[in-house]
Amino acid sequence: MAAKNILHMLTPHKHVSPFDVNMALDAGYDSVTPYENVSLDEVTDIVQDIIFSRPPDRGVNSAVFFGGDDAVLALDMIDAAKSALVPPFGCNIMADPAGSFTTAAAMVACVEKNLKDKAGKSLADVSIAVFGATGVVGYCSAVIAALEGATVKIVGYSGLDRVKKRADEMQERFGVEIQPVDGSSDEKNAAAIADVEVIFSAARAGVQVLSLGQLQTAKKLLVAADVNAVPPLGLEGIDVMANGAPIDGTDAFGIGALAVGPVKSNTEHGLLKRMIEADEVQSLDFRDAFQLARTLVS
Ligand SMILES: NC(=O)c1ccc[n+]([C@@H]2O[C@H](COP(=O)([O-])OP(=O)(O)OC[C@H]3O[C@@H](n4cnc5c(N)ncnc54)[C@H](OP(=O)(O)O)[C@@H]3O)[C@@H](O)[C@H]2O)c1
Repeated sequence: MAAKNILHMLTPHKHVSPFDVNMALDAGYDSVTPYENVSLDEVTDIVQDIIFSRPPDRGVNSAVFFGGDDAVLALDMIDAAKSALVPPFGCNIMADPAGSFTTAAAMVACVEKNLKDKAGKSLADVSIAVFGATGVVGYCSAVIAALEGATVKIVGYSGLDRVKKRADEMQERFGVEIQPVDGSSDEKNAAAIADVEVIFSAARAGVQVLSLGQLQTAKKLLVAADVNAVPPLGLEGIDVMANGAPIDGTDAFGIGALAVGPVKSNTEHGLLKRMIEADEVQSLDFRDAFQLARTLVS
């Protein structure tokens, strides 16, 4: 009899995300079990309970998924889960807190495609300003782009201190050099975008990060992407549906949240399906999400 594919969905929050439950069952899982209010120090016991319940060759049919809304905690939970494995006993491991790993992957992949199609450039050729990088989507977008060789700055709307801590954490965990920048006034934001070819806007839903007038001052701008679908949008002048549409008064192109959304959903679906279908156990974070997303947009 074929082994059932079982997903254990863990979150530090009160509820797991219904979005992720639906995605997992639609991807083909036979069963999805929620575990709520899970702390980092509980991950080892839960993972070992999962792996020792089945013979080693059934490890590929078990998976643990980390939700929440904190990229650093989710990455720590992945590390704890990997350390808890006792070969030959294993299981699949994936995280996508608040959909951020796959959203960031999708946004960066859409930008990469537009850069290539419209300007013949790669991520390694450009400088990027990321807004919202103390949040989960902005954090992952900044790291993915930096790992691809982009020059990345993260802009702090509340000043330099918190983005500096973020940049230090990114450096320690991923070895990437990211420049923290003070974005606590309109003038400072304008200065932050003056020399960049790309803008990622990943701020809180319903918050305008830059006006069209500000975007028009960014003379080197090639592509700007926004993942906020709730009015007011993060970048004025870029429609939610825009998928490489010209931005008025600039030579740049815009990508809106609803152009990123389907790529995000297909990426999450694809990673979940990969865990079901792979012959070896998988461990998947936003780097794997990006590798998949760039194939989906090409
Ligand atoms: N299109 C999609 O498929 C999709 C999927 C998931 C999420 N999203 C969207 O992606 C965006 C980011 O999501 P997230 O989960 O990363 O959100 P988040 O964790 O709440 O982070 C949002 C970021 O915005 C910052 N922020 C808060 N108020 C701000 C302000 N007034 N001006 C500038 N920045 C401000 C936050 O700073 P603090 O650290 O101070 O809070 C944080 O850095 C949201 O708009 C969300 O709706 C889109």
